[in-house]
Amino acid sequence: MNSIYTNSIYMNRLSKSFGQKEVLTKLSLTVLPGEIFGLLGPSGAGKTTLIKILTGQLSYTGTAEIMGKSCNSLDRNIYSEIGMVMDNSGIYERLTCYDNMILFAKFNHIKKEQVIDSLKQVGLTDIKTPAGRLSKGMRQRLVLARALLHHPKILFLDEPTSGLDPVTASEIHKLLLKLQAEGTTIFLTTHNMVEAHKLCDHIALLNEGNIVEFGKPDEICRKYNKDNIISILSRDGRTITIINNPDNAKQIAAYFAEDKVEAIHSSEPNLESVFMSLTGKELDL
Ligand SMILES: Nc1ncnc2c1ncn2[C@@H]1O[C@H](COP(=O)(O)OP(=O)(O)OP(=O)(O)O)[C@@H](O)[C@H]1O
Ligand SMILES: [Mg+2]
Repeated sequence: MNSIYTNSIYMNRLSKSFGQKEVLTKLSLTVLPGEIFGLLGPSGAGKTTLIKILTGQLSYTGTAEIMGKSCNSLDRNIYSEIGMVMDNSGIYERLTCYDNMILFAKFNHIKKEQVIDSLKQVGLTDIKTPAGRLSKGMRQRLVLARALLHHPKILFLDEPTSGLDPVTASEIHKLLLKLQAEGTTIFLTTHNMVEAHKLCDHIALLNEGNIVEFGKPDEICRKYNKDNIISILSRDGRTITIINNPDNAKQIAAYFAEDKVEAIHSSEPNLESVFMSLTGKELDL
């Protein structure tokens, strides 16, 4: 496919209902080629539903396009251009990692040689271990290796590091940044705002099917930083919180002048606190 497109992913007033229940409401979003885009939201917000729509697995109303093609009528060729990791299923437990990959490569007419490349790319070394005996992190690498076999232009990842230990999650983050550097567009969902902040060029906060905020993670945090709070731990053990604005500067200076300050912290909002202030809910539900 050699079509020219401006946006990797484009949505305009995209809605989805299951029966009477509307689960996505008039979403409008654009993901540019080569960016990592993060969709954040609590359980039930509609993240997986949106990935399924974008990958042609569910119908919808409104506009949704990937690489300039309508998601309501994607032809089979698109699957050689996109990769997805939805969950850990579709792995043959008794087959080794290598044999799982070979089988998948055969189904998809991919050269055998690419199997080893993909396994190396994700750092999966125990390729002779039956998939059923892999640790969670190794299994996730296997699923990623499978999604990368055909060098997709867009990679859809539904909670790629959910349930992984911080070290493995961090290795997967590195891999995603490397893929981005090689030109892959990545659309991921997560509950984890630290992950989103670290990886994503843009994020959208999804709540009950609505986008409640969109932008670059830093910009979103700064936007909600109007009431930056300073907390002072005084030498007598009290914590004093003061809004950090010019009017209060003298009060803060006075604590220092009187040598009352044990420690001082500024509390910039993070994506979690922004989300809570917008929805009254925690992200990690
Ligand atoms: N096939 C379906 N039929 C009916 N309702 C569905 C179906 N799939 C999802 N839903 C509903 O749509 C809403 C969004 O679900 P979805 O799985 O997209 O949320 P999510 O943001 O991915 O949640 P999680 O973080 O738990 O994975 C939920 O209320 C869910 O019950
Ligand atoms: Mg989900």
